[in-house]
Amino acid sequence: MSTPALAIQLSDAEMRLLQALVYQECGMYFDARRTHFLQDRLQRRLRECRMDSFYNYYRLLISAEGKQELAQLLENLTVNETSFFRNKAQLDLFHKSILDDIIREKQAAGDHYLRIWSAGCSTGQEPYTVAMLVADALAYHQLRMPNPGATMWPKPLIPPPWKVEIPASDINYTVLRAGQEAIYNEHQMASVDYSYRLRYFDKVGERYAIKKTIKEIVHFDFHNLKTEFVPQRNDIIFCRNVMMYFDEAEQKRLVEKFHRCLRPGGYLLVGHAESLLGLTNKFTMVYRDSGTAYRSNEVPQ
Ligand SMILES: C[S@@+](CC[C@H](N)C(=O)[O-])C[C@H]1O[C@@H](n2cnc3c(N)ncnc32)[C@H](O)[C@@H]1O
Repeated sequence: MSTPALAIQLSDAEMRLLQALVYQECGMYFDARRTHFLQDRLQRRLRECRMDSFYNYYRLLISAEGKQELAQLLENLTVNETSFFRNKAQLDLFHKSILDDIIREKQAAGDHYLRIWSAGCSTGQEPYTVAMLVADALAYHQLRMPNPGATMWPKPLIPPPWKVEIPASDINYTVLRAGQEAIYNEHQMASVDYSYRLRYFDKVGERYAIKKTIKEIVHFDFHNLKTEFVPQRNDIIFCRNVMMYFDEAEQKRLVEKFHRCLRPGGYLLVGHAESLLGLTNKFTMVYRDSGTAYRSNEVPQ
């Protein structure tokens, strides 16, 4: 029987250094309730790197040669839990009210471009859920207001002249690759009903692959929400279950950035356990049947 490797001592000072570095790099804040998790992941990385002190590990992380290990550490610290159709009440609000309004407003303005950013997309279930709901909403809109020019067969997923883009970003390369691959097992499919499975997935052995037409409108890319650069001119931003890992100062900065990169009157959707209360007065809460969203209520400069 092999004896488990002894844990290397992590002093309070080393812990503070590493905590501050993680916060500075990606905004994740480990309060007293989560330091145990941070300690556990740091021990694992130290063992993987075959190092014998946390101070030396810290020095590696801040060095030019340590860039890859820093990315690896951040990946180990992210919580990637997600699912298709997560937070049904909020998605009903999005589908039946927000999307419907935006599509009608855009149609009236002759603007047929829709851009919805999934920030902190994990393995892709969120942006693909959004893509399926948008495809349904546009098909329904087309039924009510048929476009005489659009008689293409087979019917395209996104009826012309509409163009839809769903950028999906994360700080974790492993989840981004899984999102790009877009193949899900039965367990991950538990929340996808048969009508969606039939229309938007192909069965591949025991698993389900997202159809090419849906895949084509979702674009995965690395993006760190801590950075000042944010993709511009979004109609809607989904940033759900991400801010909860940041402290209040970082949440405020993030919400400001979201406000700047949303079109006037655009929407921000945050997680069930998250809220903009006390963070900003630039959004107004929209509420329907237990689903909530925030509407940007100022014209961005
Ligand atoms: C709990 S998952 C949420 C996934 C999805 N939004 C949902 O609600 O189902 C949080 C995701 O945020 C990502 N994340 C954490 N910090 C981030 C940062 N600074 N920039 C971008 N993504 C980040 C994590 O890698 C993780 O995949």
